[in-house]
Amino acid sequence: MKILSIETSCDETSVAIVEDGRKIITNRIYSQIDIHQKYGGVVPEIASRNHVIKLPYIIEEALAESGLTLGDMDAIGVANGPGLVGALLIGLSTAKAMAYSLDIPLIGVHHIEGHIAANFLQYPELEPPFLTLVVSGGHSHLVLVKDYQTFEVLGKTRDDAAGEAFDKVSRVLGLGYPGGPAIDEAATKGNPSAIDFPRAFLDKDRFDFSFSGLKSAVLNYINRKKMKNEPIEVNDVAASFQMAVVDVLVAKTIACARSINMKVICIAGGVSSNSLLRQKMTDAAKEEGLSLYYPDPILCTDNAAMIGSMAYYNYINGGASDLNLNAMPGLEIGSRI
Ligand code: KG4
Ligand code: ZN
Repeated sequence: MKILSIETSCDETSVAIVEDGRKIITNRIYSQIDIHQKYGGVVPEIASRNHVIKLPYIIEEALAESGLTLGDMDAIGVANGPGLVGALLIGLSTAKAMAYSLDIPLIGVHHIEGHIAANFLQYPELEPPFLTLVVSGGHSHLVLVKDYQTFEVLGKTRDDAAGEAFDKVSRVLGLGYPGGPAIDEAATKGNPSAIDFPRAFLDKDRFDFSFSGLKSAVLNYINRKKMKNEPIEVNDVAASFQMAVVDVLVAKTIACARSINMKVICIAGGVSSNSLLRQKMTDAAKEEGLSLYYPDPILCTDNAAMIGSMAYYNYINGGASDLNLNAMPGLEIGSRI
């Protein structure tokens, strides 16, 4: 089954063709980062307008690259939430028009479930159940994937998402947007023990996260330095901040896996590209005797292939979505569309 899938929930315009949920035929991603960079973050209206302009070309590119035609497609998959409502609507309206005119099924996909499915594309042997840490610009969740359609959220952030914290700290350090890759890079030149930023472990037996205290601690540290006219060691701040985030993400993931006796863990989402997170999670998983899976960076970022993978499993387990499917900016994980 070949699914043409569309992802426009934030600032990436992406179109993919995926076969049977596991094989990427093509995965075209157009990033609007250059457009939003000067504003220090994504401007929702500008993102929507650029999706309108770019999406038709990206669809054409994906088809041309695959050597397939629209007539070869068996269904259209699309991320319909969560995300920026205007941005989601561009992808969703396009997907509906294509499904209707081609008379093939429309399949709505939860964006975060898509991030989880990125690991299915990379690892043919991976099957549920497993525990996933999904860390992106908008989410930090520990999700027990019981089967392809049953997701249980065991922990989530009570305030900022991990990626949001990276982006905000990067901004105050003058490292620009997006913050994650910039901090990752700066941290390689800094000392992660230079500053002892707080780690919010919250309740030890629960798996919720909190990153706003850490973010404030970094801001206060920088302000204090500025007031005293002291130089700010940007690389040391970046490295110490990153270590504080990663320490908590790794410790909570391992503790959660232990508490449910789960031996397979995955990481997914934009922040799962982070080099320190990958390294520390690999070390911790080894020590704990767990199998760890994480996708290539291109599949960690927002991309339509992950949507095409999840669309396949949504379809074979639950059938098509209605053509009156709506964009849902606050869609909860596990709510069947
Ligand atoms: O999953 P994603 O592409 O979009 C959302 O669904 O939000 O995640 C984007 C987030 C941004 O906050 C970005 O700064 C962060 O992922 N990110 C990283 C890295 N690469 C991207 N965070 C830490 N380290 C990285 N290498
Ligand atoms: Zn995402």
